[in-house]
Amino acid sequence: MAEYRAAALQYAQEQRASFLEDLKTFVRIPSISTDSDSKLEMQRAAEWVAQELRKLGMNHVAIYPTEGHPVVYGDMLNSGPDRPTVLLYGHYDVQPVEPLELWQSPPFEPEQRGENLYGRGASDMKGQVIASMKAIEALVHNGGFPVNLKYLIEGEEEIGSTNLEGFIATHKELLTSDFALNPDAGMIAKDTPTITYGLRGLAYFELRVYGPDHDLHSGLFGGVIHNPAQVLCELIAGMHDENGHITLPGYYDSVLPISGEEHAEFTRLPMDETYYLRQSGAAALFGEAGYIPVERVGARPTLEVNGLLSGFTGEGSKTVLPAMAMAKISMRLVPNQRPEEVHQQILQYLEAHAPATVRYEVKYLNSGLPSITNRDMPAVSALSQAMESVFGKRPFYRREGGSIPVTAQISEILGIDSVLTGFGLPDDNLHAPNEKIHLPTFYRGIDTLIHFFCNL
Ligand code: BES
Ligand code: MN
Repeated sequence: MAEYRAAALQYAQEQRASFLEDLKTFVRIPSISTDSDSKLEMQRAAEWVAQELRKLGMNHVAIYPTEGHPVVYGDMLNSGPDRPTVLLYGHYDVQPVEPLELWQSPPFEPEQRGENLYGRGASDMKGQVIASMKAIEALVHNGGFPVNLKYLIEGEEEIGSTNLEGFIATHKELLTSDFALNPDAGMIAKDTPTITYGLRGLAYFELRVYGPDHDLHSGLFGGVIHNPAQVLCELIAGMHDENGHITLPGYYDSVLPISGEEHAEFTRLPMDETYYLRQSGAAALFGEAGYIPVERVGARPTLEVNGLLSGFTGEGSKTVLPAMAMAKISMRLVPNQRPEEVHQQILQYLEAHAPATVRYEVKYLNSGLPSITNRDMPAVSALSQAMESVFGKRPFYRREGGSIPVTAQISEILGIDSVLTGFGLPDDNLHAPNEKIHLPTFYRGIDTLIHFFCNL
């Protein structure tokens, strides 16, 4: 076993250049799930992934169409019934690239600068998908894979994994496993291996406020017509009070309180005010009174404006009273909040506060459930030991503020827990211009996964 492990690690070391080439090839496919005209590219990404799984020697490799983007599956189940079965998860879709002019190199032309590889999806999560494929390759190449593996890769994570739920529900047998490994959650810092045991959920809305039935001259009508942009801003402003609490009726009713023990653990994480200030470049922090930063991100719910649109925003000036104003609003949810519940709450809030001068519309765009996973399973110790072998220190355990809807889906439908990890860094510019992956950490990620599969 020791020789086998060493040979796989040696192989991974020797193959670094070819691993990097494959990562670049994957990043070159512009698989933006939210774009309706990216359908072909999504299919191409799915086919590329399926091809890679075949090259790894996987069986039952198939592309399953869904109402949205296809799901790819493949397995390796020859290591014997006494070995555990791991459900490995990945997503091949990426976020949009706008604003394009802020990218130093084109998002789908991966470019290495210093120790980083730049490109959309390099870190979230094509780099993580390649890292897991390469860990598998290294083991397969040196004597075979040590455990049973089912690989599930979807194309809709960045838009809420809406069609994945149905796929899991109709393929329960196919996906049955002992636990899931999900490398879509990153690390606290470069030398700080991290295991994530909690994720926030999400409920995403589009709010439109309509005033006059067409744009008006702001001189001729300003003073008699209520401006929808102003109404929208007032409605949004009213959603928080002066302590940073969210004012939607009943918003905190089902929020699981943070125990004293967990609070004590949170205070020991290397994620203080300075950490968030440095990562963000903001002038000062903001948030709910009474909670430390890491709690406000990982264990308390929020409400964010993701986008605003109204009136004239071009160069120069135009005196207009717009007919419509729109905001994209999302809420990060924590256990045991449910997206349907906050949907009702925002409707109630609007009913109580929207003035009679306007009409409004709320579109429910997508959602994902929050989750907390079991830290006591053997697979978590296997990962913790793997991290210790590679990074020379034990991982920190934290709850992360991002969302990965599949985690709750497989826990509810398949009844299995997930081990959440990943080798992305907080300064990887996820969802932003100049996304990158730190290559030394990417290679350590591959080594960690090799150790992990052996430890299992
Ligand atoms: N990988 C991220 C989430 C993440 C990042 C978790 C870092 C932990 C640490 C994932 O791809 C993501 O961005 N998810 C979306 C999901 C949403 C659209 C339902 C998110 O959180 O915005
Ligand atoms: Mn993402």
